[in-house]
Amino acid sequence: MTENTPDTVAVGIDIGGTGIKGAIVDVTTGELLTDRKKFATPEGGKPDDIAKTVTDLMESLGDVPASATVGICFPAVVRHGVTMSAANVSKKWIGFEAEKLFEKTLGRDITFVNDADAAGFAEVRYGAAKGKSGLIILTTLGTGIGTALIYNGVLTPNAELGHLEIGGVDYETKAAYSAKEREDLSWKKWAERLQVYYERLEALFSPDGFIVGGGVSKHHDEFLPLLKLSTPIVPATLRNNAGILGAASLSTMRTTFLE
Ligand code: BGC
Repeated sequence: MTENTPDTVAVGIDIGGTGIKGAIVDVTTGELLTDRKKFATPEGGKPDDIAKTVTDLMESLGDVPASATVGICFPAVVRHGVTMSAANVSKKWIGFEAEKLFEKTLGRDITFVNDADAAGFAEVRYGAAKGKSGLIILTTLGTGIGTALIYNGVLTPNAELGHLEIGGVDYETKAAYSAKEREDLSWKKWAERLQVYYERLEALFSPDGFIVGGGVSKHHDEFLPLLKLSTPIVPATLRNNAGILGAASLSTMRTTFLE
């Protein structure tokens, strides 16, 4: 990696409910400079166990340049490095000094952000939202629904629109990809729920575009054409690397909202 100037190289780590993925990234191009490594998320998802797995993952990446910044994304509200919610992870993360824990276990500064924010930021910098102006809403459909609000390329963090209450329920429990799997819904039945969800987002935000990420976005042909919306809706282009790329990229440009 000597051909890269130091501030273009960063590590991105994406912590999810089932897997923890990471790679060394060239943030100017959005290319992975190493293979993407993946470790299983420890049972129970408690902070110390996850921190140990993240340390193992860092070691598996080989020689990480000392100058490389490190970004980690996580499925919770993150304010000033503190995790404030825990929808699909251990409740121990609520009000937890997450950034400090990883800085201690990794022995270096890190940047800790919400997973959907990281994915949204990556799509703006390298993917489906690149060069797009106006309000873009990225949604990730996975275990939960993650959302990122991006206006003229600027991210407003911690949107948490997956938890919109519709019909008296937290709607991620109805429309996340995990609901499709849990209830064995056909694409058509699931798309009916997505229709309700995206219509509500349209009514509240009048966005200029939706981007749909998460692992299921590779099957976008099965469900996006079933949606009837007035807003253009397109699949994310970075798929499983969005969190890694966004976390790495954000780590090189800490802004006041992340401090
Ligand atoms: C969490 C969000 C997260 C999303 C996707 C939701 O349950 O509340 O913080 O971004 O899942 O992982």
